[in-house]
Amino acid sequence: MRQVSATIAFLSTLWESRSMAHHNEIVRESFTVQAKAFAANPWVTDKQRIRRLVAAARLTGDERVLDIATGPGYIAEAFARAAREVIGVDLTAAMLAIGEERTKKHGVSNLSFRIGDVQSLPFEKEEFDVVVTRLALHHMQNPAKVVREMARVCRLGGTVLVEDIYGSEHSERAAYQDRWEKLRDPSHVRTLPISELLHFFREAGLETDSLSTFEDLCPELERWLATTRVPLGDAAEVRRLLEEDRLHDLSGTRPFLDAAGQRHFHARTATLAGRRFRLLT
Ligand SMILES: C[S@@+](CC[C@H](N)C(=O)[O-])C[C@H]1O[C@@H](n2cnc3c(N)ncnc32)[C@H](O)[C@@H]1O
Repeated sequence: MRQVSATIAFLSTLWESRSMAHHNEIVRESFTVQAKAFAANPWVTDKQRIRRLVAAARLTGDERVLDIATGPGYIAEAFARAAREVIGVDLTAAMLAIGEERTKKHGVSNLSFRIGDVQSLPFEKEEFDVVVTRLALHHMQNPAKVVREMARVCRLGGTVLVEDIYGSEHSERAAYQDRWEKLRDPSHVRTLPISELLHFFREAGLETDSLSTFEDLCPELERWLATTRVPLGDAAEVRRLLEEDRLHDLSGTRPFLDAAGQRHFHARTATLAGRRFRLLT
């Protein structure tokens, strides 16, 4: 009986690691294709939103910061201007290359980039004062594990900062959003409801010091589709699903038409700041 359980555990670990490796390939492929367009998008470069995230960390200037799934490194660069040292980690070389070129040109010398899988961070425990990630957890197959990893490498009293799009608390509405998100980008896994993000923080041993939600990220649909170069048939289906959503309120993202008749939706974002505390024994 014990042998059967051990075999089942072994097979499920094997299946999980194969599935993660496969998903990582999908992530690399998607973000290699979209790297340039992604890095030029206003919802990625917006200085005010970047400043807001940095402010949430309440830096003193002496911190060592880790930005996970850093992509083109806008968050890492902003932190580097306000902290002692920053490391940015990402799976996709094409994304990191954009960050490296830009920050070199800007003369940022306290920032370095590394290729790595954030589901298993290549750092010792408690190495950083602040561990941050933006717009990335919804691409992860095991986001709970990623938050645990963030907490592991963060020192006691340090800050774990997560900003991401969030989904409806009603699972069928969140699933509706995931349908058009996945058609648009196969590396999308799941938009997490805030209750689940809070649960991950609690399970990772983090005290949630603040939670803020924002509705100021409203991508224009055609530019959003062009970023990931969605095939024509899938793009038509995304437009159809969003139109249904606009007419019947199906996901909570409240798609709308602007004055010029262009379509947008609310990519609702949440920022959570958590503090690592000493567990009572
Ligand atoms: C939407 S981009 C966000 C980039 C950046 N954080 C920002 O806000 O500008 C998501 C990034 O997550 C990275 N990514 C996804 N899964 C990852 C993983 N398991 N390990 C490392 N990076 C990952 C992708 O390569 C991509 O650069």
